[in-house]
Amino acid sequence: MSIYIAPSLLSADFSNLKDEVKDIEEAGADWLHIDVMDGHFVPNLSFGAPIFSALRKQTSLVFDVHLMVENPGDYVETYAKAGAEYFTFHAEAVVHMHRLAEQIHKAGMKVGIALNPATPVSFIEEIIPYVDLVLIMSVNPGFGGQSFIPSVVHKIGQVKQLLVAAGNIKALIEVDGGINQKTAPLVKKEGAQVLVAGSAVFGQTDRKTAIQALIEA
Ligand code: DX5
Ligand code: ZN
Repeated sequence: MSIYIAPSLLSADFSNLKDEVKDIEEAGADWLHIDVMDGHFVPNLSFGAPIFSALRKQTSLVFDVHLMVENPGDYVETYAKAGAEYFTFHAEAVVHMHRLAEQIHKAGMKVGIALNPATPVSFIEEIIPYVDLVLIMSVNPGFGGQSFIPSVVHKIGQVKQLLVAAGNIKALIEVDGGINQKTAPLVKKEGAQVLVAGSAVFGQTDRKTAIQALIEA
């Protein structure tokens, strides 16, 4: 089973984004995880499509946009045009998840669905056949550098079971928040394939060693 490392741009040096992205690409990252926050769904603001578009031209990394915003459906066209591969929205922020999944696919992107630590997996059971990725949050979204919440680990296995039962075996399970050398093995063991890491990659000076450590952990 391949493991993909998705460094989170939130922990990059914002005064030097172009070089930061090139650095992690050369260091062996597979994806770039881009945390979009609106100050409403989460109590923090980050960056939006203009920064995303500017970076898109600099790298061939897979762009994994994680929308921590209210009304994520308003941004489907914007991120499709900007070149996002994965459009991941929070289940808690959307009333019509099936409709939104259709819109994202129609726009040419892959559908990701994210769950906060306190949201049960059963909440997304009916949408499971339509997703390309499930993102299990292992911290409360809004900030980098928080501690991993161990009680979410069992949700990975639950998602895996639902994906298998739906015959959706190509969909990936991603875990986001507090991933480091200690916590990576816990989530990999349960079936997570995409590991988001902010502090554990961008927060380190030697990114190559940091990425390798997460793959091997
Ligand atoms: C939190 C974000 C994460 C965050 C992860 O709201 O979704 O992607 O940047 O940062 P670390 O790896 O430092 O927990
Ligand atoms: Zn994220």
